[in-house]
Amino acid sequence: MGKPKVVLGVSGGIAAYKACELLRRLTESGHDVRVVPTDSALHFVGAATWSALSGNPVSTEVWDGVHEVPHVRIGQEADLVVVAPATADMLAKAAHGLADDLLTNTLLTARCPVVFAPAMHTEMWEHPATQENVATLRRRGALVIDPAVGRLTGVDTGKGRLPDPAEIFEVCRRVLARGTAGPDLAGRHVVVSAGGTREPLDPVRFLGNRSSGKQGYALARTAAARGARVTLIEANTGLPDPAGVDVVRVGTAVQLREAVLKAAPDADVVVMAAAVADFRPETYATGKIKKKDGQDPEPIVLVRNPDILAEIAADRPRPEQLVVGFAAETDDVLANGRAKLARKGCDLLVVNEVGERKTFGSEENEAVVLGADGSETAVPYGPKEALADTVWDLVAHRLG
Ligand SMILES: Cc1cc2nc3c(=O)[nH]c(=O)nc-3n(C[C@H](O)[C@H](O)[C@H](O)COP(=O)(O)O)c2cc1C
Repeated sequence: MGKPKVVLGVSGGIAAYKACELLRRLTESGHDVRVVPTDSALHFVGAATWSALSGNPVSTEVWDGVHEVPHVRIGQEADLVVVAPATADMLAKAAHGLADDLLTNTLLTARCPVVFAPAMHTEMWEHPATQENVATLRRRGALVIDPAVGRLTGVDTGKGRLPDPAEIFEVCRRVLARGTAGPDLAGRHVVVSAGGTREPLDPVRFLGNRSSGKQGYALARTAAARGARVTLIEANTGLPDPAGVDVVRVGTAVQLREAVLKAAPDADVVVMAAAVADFRPETYATGKIKKKDGQDPEPIVLVRNPDILAEIAADRPRPEQLVVGFAAETDDVLANGRAKLARKGCDLLVVNEVGERKTFGSEENEAVVLGADGSETAVPYGPKEALADTVWDLVAHRLG
């Protein structure tokens, strides 16, 4: 089998230079990349750069190499088309089926998955014209990644920034891996919690846990690549924001509860992958707790934290909302998992065995997904994104 063929469309936004990194990642991971810039894109990064980095010829128009009929062939042969950055103008042209250069022709002839990574000023992004174009493209099956919030051209800040190229690459990788399966979670809002809460004792100390957040991030990334609108509530992970995902940062279990309750009302699914502390110190010392000569330390008194999983499973804002929990167990893994599923009242429970070198922080996981309907789905040892995909498969099936 030859290398997967990727068309990297680049339109004329200031973020065009970031597409060079995306191109690098795609070529270095074994993809045959054909860059199709627009004329405007070449004002930002020249054809020589695209050609040298991709190892392929570069043209913006349909009149070069006409004997090879590039305006049809490039799109037809592609396994994936990704447009990054996608300008407001490019989204409009794509939504309306214009075909006045090589990239817009390619978009009309491609029958493979198409990903747009828009980048523009907030006003352009929020304009009803752009939003309607985005909705049209999504309705037709394209994956349009929401821009990130941050520094824009000049001194402005807001929504409209191109997500990190490494994260756009992750989306491309996942979309390619799913082949023609398409964005089956399009139109769905999913809330995922990730990481581990920290319960402060004093300004410098906390009670925490070993959760890295990688499984929750894999769930968020995978859902976004399957077209879902994703709210990721993260506690103390330090991981980079996935492309197109709305990230809410929290520290403690109480903060995590507030964030989940705020995001849950219009969610189709809530997945609680975060390791939430069962207990927190009863008191918080506003000054650093110090050693005192000749005195034993004060004992730490713990109080219970709210049981967020049980609460959201019991008080669903929409009866059809699905709730997925995680159970990290060190012994009697399945028996404890079944008991927890019944106790918490969730629809699915992902049960995995944890230990110092197991699961936490690693890139791999092995689990059994228990269903309230009595189903049991074993997920063999493998990448956390494979477990994430199994969870979304089970969710998609239940959502119908
Ligand atoms: C310095 C500069 C930066 C620009 N950045 C963006 C941008 O980030 N996003 C956008 O949609 N348009 C941006 N534009 C406007 C586009 O270049 C313009 O709409 C152009 O017609 C897009 O053509 P294309 O979609 O064929 O590439 C920028 C223009 C200039 C001069």
